[in-house]
Amino acid sequence: MKKALVIGGAGQIGRAAVGALARDGWDVTAASLSGRSDPHWPGEARAVALDRDDDAALAALVGDGVDLVVDMVAFEPRHGRQLAALAGRVGSAVVISSCSVYEDEKGRGFATQGEPDGMPVYPVPMPESWRTVAAGDEGYGPRKVLIEQELTGLGERLPTTVIRAAAVHGPHCRTPRELYFVKRNLDGRRTRVLSYGGTSRFHPSSVRNLAELVRLAAARPGSRILNGADPDCPTVAEIGAAIDGLMGVETETVLVDGGPPAPMVGDTPWSMPNPVEMDMSAARAELGYEPVTTYAQALPETVEWLTARLREEPDWTVAFPKMAASYTTGIFDYAGEDAWLASRG
Ligand SMILES: NC(=O)c1ccc[n+]([C@@H]2O[C@H](COP(=O)([O-])OP(=O)(O)OC[C@H]3O[C@@H](n4cnc5c(N)ncnc54)[C@H](OP(=O)(O)O)[C@@H]3O)[C@@H](O)[C@H]2O)c1
Repeated sequence: MKKALVIGGAGQIGRAAVGALARDGWDVTAASLSGRSDPHWPGEARAVALDRDDDAALAALVGDGVDLVVDMVAFEPRHGRQLAALAGRVGSAVVISSCSVYEDEKGRGFATQGEPDGMPVYPVPMPESWRTVAAGDEGYGPRKVLIEQELTGLGERLPTTVIRAAAVHGPHCRTPRELYFVKRNLDGRRTRVLSYGGTSRFHPSSVRNLAELVRLAAARPGSRILNGADPDCPTVAEIGAAIDGLMGVETETVLVDGGPPAPMVGDTPWSMPNPVEMDMSAARAELGYEPVTTYAQALPETVEWLTARLREEPDWTVAFPKMAASYTTGIFDYAGEDAWLASRG
Protein backbone atom coordinates (compact mmCIF):
# COMPACT_ATOMS: atom_id res chain seq x y z
CA MET A 1 0.00 0.00 0.00
CA LYS A 2 1.14 3.53 -0.68
CA LYS A 3 1.92 5.53 2.42
CA ALA A 4 0.43 8.93 3.19
CA LEU A 5 1.18 11.27 6.07
CA VAL A 6 -1.45 13.91 6.85
CA ILE A 7 -0.22 16.81 9.00
CA GLY A 8 -3.23 18.21 10.84
CA GLY A 9 -5.14 14.95 10.36
CA ALA A 10 -7.45 15.53 13.36
CA GLY A 11 -8.73 18.89 12.12
CA GLN A 12 -11.90 19.44 10.10
CA ILE A 13 -10.35 19.03 6.64
CA GLY A 14 -7.87 16.45 7.93
CA ARG A 15 -10.52 14.12 9.28
CA ALA A 16 -12.35 14.10 5.95
CA ALA A 17 -9.14 13.79 3.91
CA VAL A 18 -7.73 10.95 6.02
CA GLY A 19 -10.99 9.04 5.57
CA ALA A 20 -11.08 9.67 1.81
CA LEU A 21 -7.46 8.58 1.33
CA ALA A 22 -7.81 5.48 3.52
CA ARG A 23 -10.95 4.41 1.67
CA ASP A 24 -9.05 4.93 -1.58
CA GLY A 25 -6.41 2.38 -0.55
CA TRP A 26 -3.79 4.55 1.14
CA ASP A 27 -2.01 3.52 4.32
CA VAL A 28 -2.56 6.79 6.21
CA THR A 29 -0.83 8.23 9.24
CA ALA A 30 -2.86 11.14 10.66
CA ALA A 31 -0.61 13.43 12.66
CA SER A 32 -1.87 16.18 14.95
CA LEU A 33 -0.82 17.90 18.15
CA SER A 34 -3.17 15.73 20.21
CA GLY A 35 -2.81 12.52 18.20
CA ARG A 36 -6.62 12.24 18.10
CA SER A 37 -8.31 9.85 15.68
CA ASP A 38 -11.79 9.80 14.18
CA PRO A 39 -14.28 6.94 14.60
CA HIS A 40 -15.28 7.24 10.92
CA TRP A 41 -11.81 6.34 9.64
CA PRO A 42 -11.35 2.87 8.22
CA GLY A 43 -8.73 0.57 9.78
CA GLU A 44 -5.98 1.70 7.39
CA ALA A 45 -5.68 5.04 9.18
CA ARG A 46 -3.67 5.47 12.37
CA ALA A 47 -3.31 8.55 14.52
CA VAL A 48 -0.06 9.86 15.99
CA ALA A 49 0.90 12.92 18.03
CA LEU A 50 3.24 15.35 16.28
CA ASP A 51 4.28 18.96 16.63
CA ARG A 52 5.26 19.74 13.06
CA ASP A 53 7.44 22.59 14.29
CA ASP A 54 9.76 19.87 15.60
CA ASP A 55 11.71 19.14 12.37
CA ALA A 56 13.30 15.99 13.78
CA ALA A 57 9.95 14.55 14.85
CA LEU A 58 8.46 15.19 11.40
CA ALA A 59 11.52 13.70 9.68
CA ALA A 60 11.26 10.64 11.92
CA LEU A 61 7.63 10.14 10.90
CA VAL A 62 8.58 10.39 7.23
CA GLY A 63 11.31 7.82 7.97
CA ASP A 64 12.73 6.18 4.83
CA GLY A 65 10.02 7.84 2.83
CA VAL A 66 6.32 8.27 2.21
CA ASP A 67 4.50 8.54 -1.09
CA LEU A 68 2.42 11.53 -0.04
CA VAL A 69 2.39 14.30 2.54
CA VAL A 70 -0.82 16.32 2.95
CA ASP A 71 -0.27 19.51 4.92
CA MET A 72 -3.32 21.18 6.44
CA VAL A 73 -1.38 23.57 8.66
CA ALA A 74 1.29 25.24 6.53
CA PHE A 75 0.96 28.80 7.85
CA GLU A 76 4.58 29.93 7.99
CA PRO A 77 7.21 30.06 5.23
CA ARG A 78 9.33 27.74 7.37
CA HIS A 79 6.63 25.08 6.99
CA GLY A 80 6.98 25.13 3.22
CA ARG A 81 10.76 24.95 3.52
CA GLN A 82 10.43 22.09 5.98
CA LEU A 83 8.47 20.13 3.36
CA ALA A 84 10.96 21.13 0.65
CA ALA A 85 13.80 19.76 2.79
CA LEU A 86 12.04 16.38 2.73
CA ALA A 87 11.97 16.26 -1.09
CA GLY A 88 13.55 12.98 -2.15
CA ARG A 89 11.87 11.17 0.73
CA VAL A 90 8.36 12.34 -0.16
CA GLY A 91 6.75 11.35 -3.45
CA SER A 92 4.35 14.28 -3.70
CA ALA A 93 2.54 16.81 -1.54
CA VAL A 94 -0.87 18.42 -1.23
CA VAL A 95 -0.93 21.65 0.73
CA ILE A 96 -3.98 23.63 1.85
CA SER A 97 -3.87 27.32 1.10
CA SER A 98 -6.57 29.98 1.09
CA CYS A 99 -8.59 32.33 -1.09
CA SER A 100 -7.11 35.05 1.16
CA VAL A 101 -4.17 35.09 -1.25
CA TYR A 102 -6.22 36.96 -3.88
CA GLU A 103 -6.31 40.73 -4.26
CA ASP A 104 -8.36 42.91 -6.57
CA GLU A 105 -7.14 45.25 -9.29
CA LYS A 106 -6.70 48.02 -6.73
CA GLY A 107 -4.61 45.82 -4.42
CA ARG A 108 -7.47 45.25 -1.97
CA GLY A 109 -8.00 41.87 -0.35
CA PHE A 110 -9.13 40.18 2.85
CA ALA A 111 -6.50 42.06 4.84
CA THR A 112 -7.72 45.51 3.75
CA GLN A 113 -11.42 44.95 4.54
CA GLY A 114 -11.28 47.10 7.67
CA GLU A 115 -9.75 50.08 5.84
CA PRO A 116 -11.67 52.93 4.19
CA ASP A 117 -12.54 51.79 0.65
CA GLY A 118 -10.70 48.55 1.51
CA MET A 119 -13.38 46.04 0.45
CA PRO A 120 -12.08 43.97 -2.48
CA VAL A 121 -13.99 43.64 -5.74
CA TYR A 122 -13.01 40.30 -7.21
CA PRO A 123 -13.91 38.85 -10.59
CA VAL A 124 -16.84 36.41 -10.48
CA PRO A 125 -15.89 33.65 -10.61
CA MET A 126 -12.23 34.01 -9.68
CA PRO A 127 -9.73 31.78 -11.50
CA GLU A 128 -6.44 30.60 -9.98
CA SER A 129 -4.60 32.82 -12.47
CA TRP A 130 -6.05 35.93 -10.80
CA ARG A 131 -3.55 38.22 -9.11
CA THR A 132 -2.47 37.59 -5.53
CA VAL A 133 -0.96 39.69 -2.78
CA ALA A 134 2.83 39.83 -2.89
CA ALA A 135 4.64 36.95 -1.23
CA GLY A 136 6.13 37.88 2.12
CA ASP A 137 6.97 36.91 5.67
CA GLU A 138 4.29 39.07 7.29
CA GLY A 139 0.57 38.42 7.25
CA TYR A 140 -1.61 35.42 6.50
CA GLY A 141 -2.07 36.00 2.74
CA PRO A 142 1.56 36.94 1.92
CA ARG A 143 2.87 33.94 3.87
CA LYS A 144 0.49 31.59 2.08
CA VAL A 145 1.64 32.99 -1.29
CA LEU A 146 5.28 32.47 -0.34
CA ILE A 147 4.58 28.86 0.65
CA GLU A 148 2.64 28.31 -2.60
CA GLN A 149 5.41 29.77 -4.76
CA GLU A 150 8.27 27.95 -3.08
CA LEU A 151 6.55 24.56 -3.12
CA THR A 152 5.15 24.69 -6.65
CA GLY A 153 8.57 25.99 -7.76
CA LEU A 154 10.14 22.69 -6.73
CA GLY A 155 8.61 21.06 -9.79
CA GLU A 156 9.58 17.41 -10.18
CA ARG A 157 11.67 17.51 -6.99
CA LEU A 158 8.43 17.54 -5.01
CA PRO A 159 5.28 17.75 -7.14
CA THR A 160 2.92 19.83 -4.99
CA THR A 161 -0.76 20.52 -5.43
CA VAL A 162 -1.89 23.65 -3.62
CA ILE A 163 -5.61 23.86 -2.81
CA ARG A 164 -7.01 27.31 -2.10
CA ALA A 165 -9.97 26.84 0.22
CA ALA A 166 -12.60 29.49 0.87
CA ALA A 167 -15.23 29.47 3.67
CA VAL A 168 -14.53 25.97 4.99
CA HIS A 169 -17.44 24.16 6.65
CA GLY A 170 -18.10 20.77 8.15
CA PRO A 171 -18.13 18.96 11.46
CA HIS A 172 -15.20 19.59 13.82
CA CYS A 173 -14.75 23.13 12.55
CA ARG A 174 -13.09 25.34 15.16
CA THR A 175 -14.29 28.60 13.62
CA PRO A 176 -17.72 27.50 12.34
CA ARG A 177 -19.44 30.36 10.51
CA GLU A 178 -22.72 28.40 10.63
CA LEU A 179 -22.71 28.87 14.41
CA TYR A 180 -23.94 32.41 13.71
CA PHE A 181 -27.38 31.12 12.74
CA VAL A 182 -27.44 27.85 14.71
CA LYS A 183 -26.79 29.57 18.04
CA ARG A 184 -29.36 32.32 17.37
CA ASN A 185 -31.96 29.68 16.59
CA LEU A 186 -31.11 27.66 19.73
CA ASP A 187 -31.27 30.85 21.80
CA GLY A 188 -34.79 31.56 20.51
CA ARG A 189 -33.79 34.64 18.52
CA ARG A 190 -36.42 34.89 15.83
CA THR A 191 -35.50 38.23 14.30
CA ARG A 192 -32.20 38.64 12.56
CA VAL A 193 -30.50 41.49 10.76
CA LEU A 194 -28.45 41.05 7.61
CA SER A 195 -26.30 43.82 6.19
CA TYR A 196 -25.69 44.25 2.45
CA GLY A 197 -29.30 43.23 1.85
CA GLY A 198 -28.47 39.62 2.80
CA THR A 199 -26.84 39.19 -0.60
CA SER A 200 -23.26 38.57 0.59
CA ARG A 201 -21.67 35.53 -0.97
CA PHE A 202 -18.47 34.01 0.42
CA HIS A 203 -17.92 30.74 -1.40
CA PRO A 204 -18.33 27.76 0.93
CA SER A 205 -15.83 24.89 0.82
CA SER A 206 -17.14 21.64 2.27
CA VAL A 207 -14.52 19.49 3.97
CA ARG A 208 -15.97 16.65 1.86
CA ASN A 209 -15.19 18.43 -1.42
CA LEU A 210 -11.74 19.45 -0.17
CA ALA A 211 -11.08 15.82 0.79
CA GLU A 212 -12.11 14.72 -2.70
CA LEU A 213 -9.66 17.21 -4.20
CA VAL A 214 -6.92 15.87 -1.91
CA ARG A 215 -7.76 12.30 -2.97
CA LEU A 216 -7.62 13.15 -6.68
CA ALA A 217 -4.44 15.22 -6.38
CA ALA A 218 -2.80 12.38 -4.45
CA ALA A 219 -3.59 9.98 -7.27
CA ARG A 220 -2.25 12.36 -9.92
CA PRO A 221 0.74 14.27 -8.49
CA GLY A 222 1.74 17.54 -10.14
CA SER A 223 2.87 21.09 -9.45
CA ARG A 224 -0.33 23.11 -9.60
CA ILE A 225 -2.58 25.53 -7.77
CA LEU A 226 -6.31 24.84 -7.64
CA ASN A 227 -9.28 26.55 -6.06
CA GLY A 228 -11.25 24.42 -3.62
CA ALA A 229 -14.92 25.37 -3.19
CA ASP A 230 -18.43 23.96 -3.44
CA PRO A 231 -20.48 23.77 -6.66
CA ASP A 232 -22.96 26.26 -5.19
CA CYS A 233 -22.34 29.68 -3.67
CA PRO A 234 -25.43 30.69 -1.67
CA THR A 235 -26.09 34.15 -0.27
CA VAL A 236 -25.95 34.66 3.47
CA ALA A 237 -29.75 35.01 3.49
CA GLU A 238 -30.05 31.63 1.74
CA ILE A 239 -27.63 30.05 4.25
CA GLY A 240 -29.71 31.39 7.15
CA ALA A 241 -32.92 30.09 5.56
CA ALA A 242 -31.38 26.65 4.94
CA ILE A 243 -30.27 26.41 8.58
CA ASP A 244 -33.74 27.51 9.75
CA GLY A 245 -35.26 24.79 7.58
CA LEU A 246 -33.01 22.11 9.07
CA MET A 247 -33.71 23.30 12.61
CA GLY A 248 -37.46 23.64 11.99
CA VAL A 249 -37.70 27.30 13.01
CA GLU A 250 -39.25 30.33 11.36
CA THR A 251 -37.46 33.63 11.51
CA GLU A 252 -37.94 37.17 10.31
CA THR A 253 -35.02 38.81 8.56
CA VAL A 254 -34.46 42.55 8.58
CA LEU A 255 -32.43 43.38 5.50
CA VAL A 256 -30.23 46.45 5.65
CA ASP A 257 -28.78 48.18 2.61
CA GLY A 258 -25.05 48.66 2.92
CA GLY A 259 -22.80 47.68 5.78
CA PRO A 260 -23.65 46.94 9.42
CA PRO A 261 -25.92 49.74 10.72
CA ALA A 262 -24.34 49.57 14.19
CA PRO A 263 -21.20 47.82 15.45
CA MET A 264 -21.54 44.08 14.76
CA VAL A 265 -25.27 44.37 13.92
CA GLY A 266 -26.06 42.30 10.84
CA ASP A 267 -22.36 41.55 10.50
CA THR A 268 -22.16 37.81 9.88
CA PRO A 269 -19.01 35.79 9.12
CA TRP A 270 -20.05 35.87 5.44
CA SER A 271 -20.95 39.57 5.27
CA MET A 272 -19.13 41.49 2.58
CA PRO A 273 -20.40 43.96 -0.02
CA ASN A 274 -18.96 42.04 -2.97
CA PRO A 275 -18.98 38.33 -3.74
CA VAL A 276 -16.07 35.95 -3.33
CA GLU A 277 -16.80 33.17 -5.76
CA MET A 278 -14.15 30.75 -6.94
CA ASP A 279 -13.86 29.32 -10.44
CA MET A 280 -13.73 25.52 -10.12
CA SER A 281 -13.15 24.71 -13.79
CA ALA A 282 -9.37 24.13 -13.42
CA ALA A 283 -9.89 21.35 -10.85
CA ARG A 284 -12.32 19.70 -13.25
CA ALA A 285 -9.91 19.97 -16.18
CA GLU A 286 -6.74 19.02 -14.25
CA LEU A 287 -8.04 16.26 -12.01
CA GLY A 288 -11.44 15.30 -13.42
CA TYR A 289 -12.84 16.66 -10.16
CA GLU A 290 -16.55 16.35 -9.53
CA PRO A 291 -17.91 17.75 -6.28
CA VAL A 292 -19.15 15.08 -3.89
CA THR A 293 -21.61 17.43 -2.18
CA THR A 294 -23.37 20.76 -2.48
CA TYR A 295 -23.43 23.27 0.37
CA ALA A 296 -27.06 22.40 1.06
CA GLN A 297 -26.36 18.65 1.09
CA ALA A 298 -23.40 19.07 3.45
CA LEU A 299 -25.20 21.40 5.84
CA PRO A 300 -27.20 18.85 7.95
CA GLU A 301 -24.13 17.13 9.41
CA THR A 302 -22.61 20.51 10.30
CA VAL A 303 -25.81 21.75 11.95
CA GLU A 304 -26.21 18.46 13.85
CA TRP A 305 -22.60 18.58 15.01
CA LEU A 306 -22.85 22.21 16.14
CA THR A 307 -26.10 21.53 17.99
CA ALA A 308 -24.61 18.50 19.74
CA ARG A 309 -21.46 20.42 20.63
CA LEU A 310 -23.50 23.25 22.22
CA ARG A 311 -25.55 20.68 24.12
CA GLU A 312 -22.30 19.30 25.56
CA GLU A 313 -20.85 22.76 26.22
CA PRO A 314 -23.47 25.54 26.18
CA ASP A 315 -20.90 28.34 26.57
CA TRP A 316 -19.94 28.90 22.95
CA THR A 317 -16.73 30.70 23.92
CA VAL A 318 -15.62 27.50 25.68
CA ALA A 319 -16.92 25.19 22.95
CA PHE A 320 -15.33 27.31 20.20
CA PRO A 321 -12.51 29.38 21.69
CA LYS A 322 -10.90 29.94 18.29
CA MET A 323 -14.19 31.30 16.94
CA ALA A 324 -14.49 33.70 19.86
CA ALA A 325 -10.90 34.83 19.27
CA SER A 326 -11.30 35.25 15.49
CA TYR A 327 -14.72 36.93 15.36
CA THR A 328 -14.88 38.38 18.92
CA THR A 329 -17.84 37.80 21.23
CA GLY A 330 -19.61 40.70 19.48
CA ILE A 331 -21.09 38.30 16.90
CA PHE A 332 -23.60 37.33 19.59
CA ASP A 333 -24.17 40.81 21.01
CA TYR A 334 -27.92 40.41 21.31
CA ALA A 335 -28.24 43.58 23.45
CA GLY A 336 -26.70 45.66 20.65
CA GLU A 337 -28.96 44.00 18.10
CA ASP A 338 -32.09 44.59 20.23
CA ALA A 339 -31.14 48.22 20.83
CA TRP A 340 -30.77 48.82 17.10
CA LEU A 341 -34.06 47.04 16.32
CA ALA A 342 -35.83 49.07 19.03
CA SER A 343 -34.34 52.29 17.65
CA ARG A 344 -36.10 51.66 14.32
CA GLY A 345 -39.37 51.02 16.09
N1 LIG B 1 -11.32 27.73 8.20
C1 LIG B 1 -11.46 28.30 7.01
O1 LIG B 1 -12.53 28.81 6.65
C2 LIG B 1 -10.29 28.29 6.04
C3 LIG B 1 -10.41 29.05 4.88
C4 LIG B 1 -9.38 28.99 3.93
C5 LIG B 1 -8.27 28.21 4.18
N2 LIG B 1 -8.17 27.50 5.35
C6 LIG B 1 -6.97 26.71 5.57
O2 LIG B 1 -7.31 25.46 6.12
C7 LIG B 1 -6.22 24.98 6.88
C8 LIG B 1 -6.69 24.57 8.24
O3 LIG B 1 -7.38 23.36 8.10
P1 LIG B 1 -8.49 22.93 9.14
O4 LIG B 1 -9.56 23.98 9.14
O5 LIG B 1 -8.86 21.54 8.85
O6 LIG B 1 -7.73 23.06 10.53
P2 LIG B 1 -8.28 22.78 12.00
O7 LIG B 1 -9.64 22.19 11.96
O8 LIG B 1 -8.03 24.02 12.79
O9 LIG B 1 -7.29 21.64 12.50
C9 LIG B 1 -5.91 21.81 12.54
C10 LIG B 1 -5.27 20.46 12.74
O10 LIG B 1 -3.86 20.63 12.70
C11 LIG B 1 -3.30 20.14 13.89
N3 LIG B 1 -2.16 20.98 14.22
C12 LIG B 1 -2.14 22.29 14.55
N4 LIG B 1 -0.89 22.70 14.77
C13 LIG B 1 -0.09 21.61 14.55
C14 LIG B 1 1.29 21.38 14.66
N5 LIG B 1 2.14 22.35 15.00
N6 LIG B 1 1.76 20.15 14.39
C15 LIG B 1 0.92 19.15 14.03
N7 LIG B 1 -0.41 19.30 13.93
C16 LIG B 1 -0.91 20.51 14.20
C17 LIG B 1 -4.40 20.21 14.94
O11 LIG B 1 -4.12 19.28 15.97
P3 LIG B 1 -5.16 19.02 17.19
O12 LIG B 1 -6.36 18.38 16.58
O13 LIG B 1 -4.45 18.13 18.10
O14 LIG B 1 -5.44 20.39 17.76
C18 LIG B 1 -5.60 19.82 14.08
O15 LIG B 1 -5.66 18.43 13.93
C19 LIG B 1 -5.19 26.10 6.95
O16 LIG B 1 -4.18 25.85 6.02
C20 LIG B 1 -5.99 27.32 6.56
O17 LIG B 1 -5.20 28.31 5.99
C21 LIG B 1 -9.16 27.53 6.27
